[in-house]
Amino acid sequence: MKIMHVVGARPNFMKLAPCHRAFAALGDVEQLVVHTGQHYDDAMSDSFFRDLEIPPPDINLGVGSASHAVQTARIMERFEPVALEHGPEWVVVYGDVNSTAAVALVCSKIDLRLAHVEAGLRSGDRSMPEEINRLVTDRLADLLLTPSRDADENLRREGVESNRIVFVGNVMVDTLLHGLPRARKELMREQLGLREGEYALVTIHRPSNVDAPERLADLMRALGIVARQIPVVFPVHPRTRSRLSASDRGALAAVNLLDPLPYHRMLDLTAGARLVITDSGGLQEETTALGIPCLTVRENTERPVTVTEGTNQLAPDPRELVRLALDARANGHARRPEGWDGRAAERIALALVAHVPAG
Ligand code: UD1
Repeated sequence: MKIMHVVGARPNFMKLAPCHRAFAALGDVEQLVVHTGQHYDDAMSDSFFRDLEIPPPDINLGVGSASHAVQTARIMERFEPVALEHGPEWVVVYGDVNSTAAVALVCSKIDLRLAHVEAGLRSGDRSMPEEINRLVTDRLADLLLTPSRDADENLRREGVESNRIVFVGNVMVDTLLHGLPRARKELMREQLGLREGEYALVTIHRPSNVDAPERLADLMRALGIVARQIPVVFPVHPRTRSRLSASDRGALAAVNLLDPLPYHRMLDLTAGARLVITDSGGLQEETTALGIPCLTVRENTERPVTVTEGTNQLAPDPRELVRLALDARANGHARRPEGWDGRAAERIALALVAHVPAG
């Protein structure tokens, strides 16, 4: 069986790693990794391949940054000949980034079978580019591999046939459980002078939080206030860095701003934090898996089990955020949702083998 994995942006790489291992363990599976080049900096891309021990991509489409339409179009244009040349039994796409939706469009038109890892998540918010990518990809994929039962429900509600949906659990948690022992040896806290359980970790990069200067300023002021009470460390995504004004930087004077971190260093900081303040999808899941309180700076989440079963709380209002951050304490509540057990990738590999067409 020939599998072509297509990844493009940072959160895809953590999902590819356990799947690549699971297919390798099956034996007799040829795997090709295509990187679209949506993320291209060492800190956003190559460091993850090294850190997570993923073989370097076989093909890099080198699309780089551009508007959503141009980036999507470039991926489609450059991916189509690669897909036609290699003709895999399955193309596997991950998550909700532009690369995911672009590849789904190509595969559906040249009749290549497509599997979507992390299918069925919905925020209900079509102003998020990721929500559009989820809707398009799930509409087109042949096999929808879901991380949680709410995702199955969402797909059924949209009229997806049951035989296209396979509940597999959460592959991000596979990566987390596999990497945690190594992460805890990174000693990031010591290097930054932080004490276990006594600091806040922040990541903010969503367009809805960083693209409007007033919204960004309100959030940065709130983080500055939190930093007067407890140490705050903030690895800054390139999108956010490019938007910070001089006065935002002033508000953040007490915050420890870092460049984006490789996977294990980030996981070490997450596992040792008193709380996490974020708008990332992955961190909402990682904090639930680790039992660390998480404040999600958004009006909604496509990952509701992190709120109903996990440690996540929505905190879209910057003034409320300060109060909630200063009150946050771990309460030992570390229940992992069904299928968040470190074996999702094995189930994905088996599902693809079971669904491969005869002949
Ligand atoms: C993308 C995903 C988002 C994901 C995020 C994680 C989409 C629609 N969004 O958003 O779901 O949470 O990745 O990082 O696909 N840049 C660099 N170096 C890089 C990559 C990007 O400097 O390696 C800069 C770009 O020039 C651009 C900005 O970061 O200005 C945004 O990059 P882009 O890939 O367009 O989207 P993200 O905001 O990263």
